[in-house]
Order: sequence, then C-alpha cells, then structure tokens
Amino acid sequence: MYYEVNDENKWLKHYKSIIVPRPIGWITSKNKNGIINLAPYSFYNAISTNPPMVVIGPGGYSKSGSNKDTLLNIELNKEFVCNFVNWDLRDIMNLSSYSYKNNESEADELNIELEDSINVDIPRVKLSPAHFECKLYKIVELPPDSRGHPNHIIIGSIMGINIKDEIMNDGKVDISKLKPISRMGYDDYALINTIFKMDRPR
Ligand SMILES: Cc1cc2nc3c(=O)[nH]c(=O)nc-3n(C[C@H](O)[C@H](O)[C@H](O)COP(=O)(O)O)c2cc1C
Repeated sequence: MYYEVNDENKWLKHYKSIIVPRPIGWITSKNKNGIINLAPYSFYNAISTNPPMVVIGPGGYSKSGSNKDTLLNIELNKEFVCNFVNWDLRDIMNLSSYSYKNNESEADELNIELEDSINVDIPRVKLSPAHFECKLYKIVELPPDSRGHPNHIIIGSIMGINIKDEIMNDGKVDISKLKPISRMGYDDYALINTIFKMDRPR
C-alpha cells in the first residue's frame, strides 16, 4: 500500500506506528501564575550528545482552543523538566494527557508528588527514576496540519541530568531497574525485554 500525504489523513495512524518505539518525555513546565503543568509527549527525543539537547513536538490545540500548555509555558518561562516514564508510572502518565485547563495542574488533580529541581525553577516528578533539567534553546513553528492547527518543535538544552542511585548497577544505568516504556502506534506501548550488543566497525 502506498499513501499520498493528502488531507484524507489515511496515512496518519500508520505513520506513527512506523516511527517506533518512541520514548515518552513527561514534561513539567510552569504557567504565568506559577501553576505546574505535566503532560506526556512522544514526539520527543535527544538530538545531540555534546551539548546534550532534546526536542519536543507539540501539535494541535488543547481543548480550550489555544496552543498546548506545554508550549505556552515553555515559551513564557523558557524552562522545563523531562521526567522519565517507567512501567510503574504508565497509568498516571496516561491520565495526565487529559486536556486540563491552563490554570489547572495535572500534578494536583492526579496527586502526583513533585520535588524541587537543582538547576531550573521547575519541579520534577518525585517518582520518576531520571530527569533532564532543560532551558529553552529555540521554538520552531512547523507548517500547520490539514485543519490549519499549529505544529511546533521545542528545542531544549539539558542543564542537569538527575539519575536515581537505585537504578544504577556497576556504574551503569540498569535497564531492568529503569523499566522504560515507549509509545508504539495506535493505542500500543512497549516494554523492552530483549537487549543485544554490537561492536562498532573500527
Ligand atoms: C504517550 C502520549 C504521548 C503523547 N505525545 C504527544 C506529542 O508528541 N505531541 C502532542 O502534541 N501531544 C501528544 N500527546 C497528547 C498530549 O499529552 C495532550 O494533548 C495533553 O493534553 C497536552 O497537555 P498540555 O496542554 O498540558 O501540554 C501524547 C499523549 C500521550 C498519552
């Protein structure tokens, strides 16, 4: 099957099922009244090693008809935290994707405990095993979707990386303790259960 990318959007769900597995950035940010927002984004990845940088892709509007809160907040405060989502956090992460109003905090609504970060004035999710503290590098406006709804990418510079000692083993992150989940297509998610090594050509 070949899909033309036209306004019928028949390709859409399949497209997202081929860019897999996608990591999930669970992003804390702060609005103009100091309310902490928390939302998952799977258009999220590391884009460089040194300096370390991440990208997040908010698309479309929130229910209120404005840009998504994560985008509005980061545009305003220029800081955010990427909280790592593991198996234990899957349900609460999913609930936090509900379109709460800009003046409502998902963390408060869902009783998600936050704690202070080190290098940014945005708190992190206490139960996440790892966190990237980020400052805004740039927001890039992408072409709108076929309904005219906006697409952006947020590029962030990682200022600090917090990794909980209990997920380390022999000086390395232990994937069996990290228990990452990732986004697949449709309503599917994946857990990593096979790891293999390959030597790089020299
Ligand atoms: C696992 C998961 C991944 C998501 N990834 C994205 C994404 O990459 N881009 C996006 O715009 N929305 C994504 N969403 C939907 C947003 O989380 C949802 O629109 C949320 O209400 C946005 O919250 P905010 O307005 O507080 O930023 C995702 C939802 C889930 C459950």
